[in-house]
Amino acid sequence: MKRITLAAVAAALALAAGPAMAAEEGQQASGHGVEIAAQDWSWDGIFGGFDQQQLQRGYYVYEQVCASCHSLELVAFRNLHDLGFNDEQVQAIASNWTVPDLDQETGQAITRPALPADRFPSPFPNPIAARFANNGALPPDLSVIAKARADGADYLYALLTGYVDAPQGVDVPVGKYYNAAFPGHIISMPPPLSDGRVEYIDGTPATVDQLARDVSAFLMWAAEPALVERKELGVKVILFLIVLAGITYAVKRKVWSDVEH
Ligand code: HEC
Repeated sequence: MKRITLAAVAAALALAAGPAMAAEEGQQASGHGVEIAAQDWSWDGIFGGFDQQQLQRGYYVYEQVCASCHSLELVAFRNLHDLGFNDEQVQAIASNWTVPDLDQETGQAITRPALPADRFPSPFPNPIAARFANNGALPPDLSVIAKARADGADYLYALLTGYVDAPQGVDVPVGKYYNAAFPGHIISMPPPLSDGRVEYIDGTPATVDQLARDVSAFLMWAAEPALVERKELGVKVILFLIVLAGITYAVKRKVWSDVEH
């Protein structure tokens, strides 16, 4: 009887998991059409977390390079505390940006220096202007891009390091670029990174590889700032369940100890 039940449970699980897994595989195959290589990240594994130094470098790359085309509209300047910046640093960073606002007296549209509570603004006044400046393509908001693409940070790294010469016979239209990781390979984003594109304050050599790695880590944090807390909670829950199982078993033995069976 027990065996039959177990077999039934196993069959049910296989039925439920099968299509889900197949769907995921299918999505990856059709989404990329290319293998995205897995990279080593500081947050890998059960106990992995973000590396604040790396996130600070990644932020710097975003600020110096990506922000001229991409907004980060779900991230506020004050969220940069997570990266280890103190109040003054956050204030100083925010004041370097301008955000749109309304004059409280006249209602006129104005711009003013950003405050810590503001979010990273779009560099363009509206999507039409954004497309006009980018050959018709819209640079997406990067707040959740690390979660919105299969392979997450691995894909971002592959994309940023994926500008290679187009294979023979592939025509790249004017104003477009060939990218090995981008679905379809023809992308409207010009290669944003080059060796030494920014100068890191901590002296880390700013190779394309390093810049791509750091900004991908930063975008992973932007998309899931509570990743570390989520993992810690998971570990605590599992420990709790193990202890609870032990207690339950002990209670069961105690309750049934003087019953003949
Ligand atoms: C000169 C403007 C410009 C800069 C600078 C720029 N991008 Fe882009 N980016 C674009 C455009 C335009 C697209 C849309 C490409 C398309 O759809 O073909 C894009 C698309 C993307 C995408 C989405 C790709 C996808 O799978 O749809 C990501 C991720 C991205 N950019 C990341 C970055 C990062 C990170 C930086 C900084 C290192 C950066 N971009 C700098 C213009 C830019």
